[in-house]
Amino acid sequence: MRFTIAIDGPAAAGKGTISKAVAQHFGFAHLDTGLLYRAVGAQMLAGVPPVEAAQTLQADALDAAKLRSADVAQAASKVAAIPEVRAALVDFQRAFASRAGGAVLDGRDIGTVICPEAEAKLFVTATPEVRATRRHLELTAAGSSTDYATVLADVKERDARDMNRADAPLRPAADAVVLDTSQLSIAQAIAQAIAAISSKQQR
Ligand code: CDP
Repeated sequence: MRFTIAIDGPAAAGKGTISKAVAQHFGFAHLDTGLLYRAVGAQMLAGVPPVEAAQTLQADALDAAKLRSADVAQAASKVAAIPEVRAALVDFQRAFASRAGGAVLDGRDIGTVICPEAEAKLFVTATPEVRATRRHLELTAAGSSTDYATVLADVKERDARDMNRADAPLRPAADAVVLDTSQLSIAQAIAQAIAAISSKQQR
């Protein structure tokens, strides 16, 4: 059985948490596509030209914990605006999406560019302040001393870059269900995501 769930949205909207829970609920595999761009961004910070980094990326061997910093996030959104970088990552994402047994992919352009035929599409969002609060908690828990104002500025800057780039800009697909999690607990957000996807499964 093939069934693709596309989950897009701005920085720190809770896509990761929702995607993992949705994948577990349906028994599907999950790909955090942001990690691909973060890995290329990290390599750029280490001096590797981004297009070369994307073309030689070993996507199966990504170390998520090392790629979560704010510096890597900013670098990721810069390399993500380069069309050749995006092009180099398309095949891996599409192959993952069409695997037997079902797949959940989260990112920015999954419902619009990578998997426009996905059976279920969600656009997960929240206010910039709520997203920055969540990301600040996450970074603090991971040992970072970054302050809230810096995190908020980072989130807004990345959103603007991601929404305004020419290639695969961040926007909801026309047929995506928009889920605003600003006022929702994690459990409520997950329940609403599962309900929206289940309604597509039964059609
Ligand atoms: O976790 P967070 O939402 O902060 O970011 P992420 O999903 O790890 O993505 C990091 C950056 O990669 C984003 O700011 C985008 O610029 C880029 N990205 C993208 O362009 N397309 C995707 N499908 C996923 C991420």
